[in-house]
Amino acid sequence: MKAIINIKQLLVTGDYSHPLKGKEMGQMSYVSNAYLLIEEGKIAAYGPMDNYPHPDAEVFDAKNRIVLPSWCDSHTHLVFAQGREDEFVDRIKGLSYEQIAARGGGILNSAERLRKLSENELFEDALLRLNELIVLGTGAIEIKSGYGLTLADEEKMLRVIKRLKAKVNIPIKATLLAAHALPVAYKSNKKGYIDLIIDQMIPQFTKEGLVDFIDVFCEKGYFSVSEMNRILEAGAQYGLPPKVHVNQFNAIGGVSAAVAHKALSVDHLEVLNNEDIRALQKSTTIATALPSCSFFLGIPYTPVRELINAHVPIALATDYNPGSSPNGNMNFVVSQGCINLKMTPEEALQAATINGAFAIGVADQVGSISIGKRANILITTPLKSYNAIPYHFAQSSIDEVWINGNSPTQKTSNVTKF
Ligand code: NIG
Ligand code: FE
Repeated sequence: MKAIINIKQLLVTGDYSHPLKGKEMGQMSYVSNAYLLIEEGKIAAYGPMDNYPHPDAEVFDAKNRIVLPSWCDSHTHLVFAQGREDEFVDRIKGLSYEQIAARGGGILNSAERLRKLSENELFEDALLRLNELIVLGTGAIEIKSGYGLTLADEEKMLRVIKRLKAKVNIPIKATLLAAHALPVAYKSNKKGYIDLIIDQMIPQFTKEGLVDFIDVFCEKGYFSVSEMNRILEAGAQYGLPPKVHVNQFNAIGGVSAAVAHKALSVDHLEVLNNEDIRALQKSTTIATALPSCSFFLGIPYTPVRELINAHVPIALATDYNPGSSPNGNMNFVVSQGCINLKMTPEEALQAATINGAFAIGVADQVGSISIGKRANILITTPLKSYNAIPYHFAQSSIDEVWINGNSPTQKTSNVTKF
């Protein structure tokens, strides 16, 4: 048994039956001057120090430190071939993300590079990245395909995710995002590519146990609402809940369509209209904001305040990918939640933990300090209060990360080797 004692503030305590929304998001359940007991990698007990049971345990004195659940990053594209620094420079010089994509860059550029790498090479790179994120505090993650765009290469990506699941003992979920961009080979046969997704990829990948969710990039120049509808219907037949990219650049009706398909989450939402908000209000769908994407591309930030006022549950995630967010640091996302999305620290911290866990269906395992959940926890540096966590933007206040009650392998190398 391990015991953490004298915890200044133990955050996000308790059991949660649904994602937090409205005022709930701004109210955090926490215990001041607390203890936490861990047994066999799980949370065994917690409470105020006055009730500390003095068990026979290995004791960690957390004086002046805050303890909270590890971050749950519910939207990433962690498996990719290389960075796209050239496009970064093109954007600095004035081209937009859409202009770069229109001339064959963007997602198709990443697909071209990924095709040339073996499953093993991709796996080794993704594993390095994942271990780096764990050291930064991520204790559960969703990872998408979407840079394969052929049956073989989408499968290659999903197999990499399956190997990560087997290798790294944190909750990991895989999402099929074959409808990320139209591959060059199908340039004049979009229906043919969608048929390939529906008739071959979805049946084969679900049979092989490679996917948990279905995703579509529903956007002008990518996939229309009716094309998304077809793909989500096919996914539903194979039991795949939707988590979709909608309203990143244009509001084209993707939100209400996704809600009609009972999407677990709708992600991005940088451009949102009243009809979209009304659709979300009537649903149980989580709205996922990805502020690092807005920061990096210089596009609008998701109007999170309006969504919270409308009682829509919010999750915060990194969108880690080589094109629109080449950064998987959840600490920075939480700071941006406060700074750019005008969330209170309580809202941002809970959007990045318990609501993130609901957004990938792992709230029974992680996301809060709750008896029986995994001891995936963060121990901060000495801080005055939890408000200091988002306050120190672009640096981590996390001193220790425990995964299943243990410190993970320390950072051994840096992925910026490309
Ligand atoms: O979530 N918008 C679609 N997909 C990614 C970006 C993909 C890329 O540029 O490689 C996103 O922003
Ligand atoms: Fe994304």
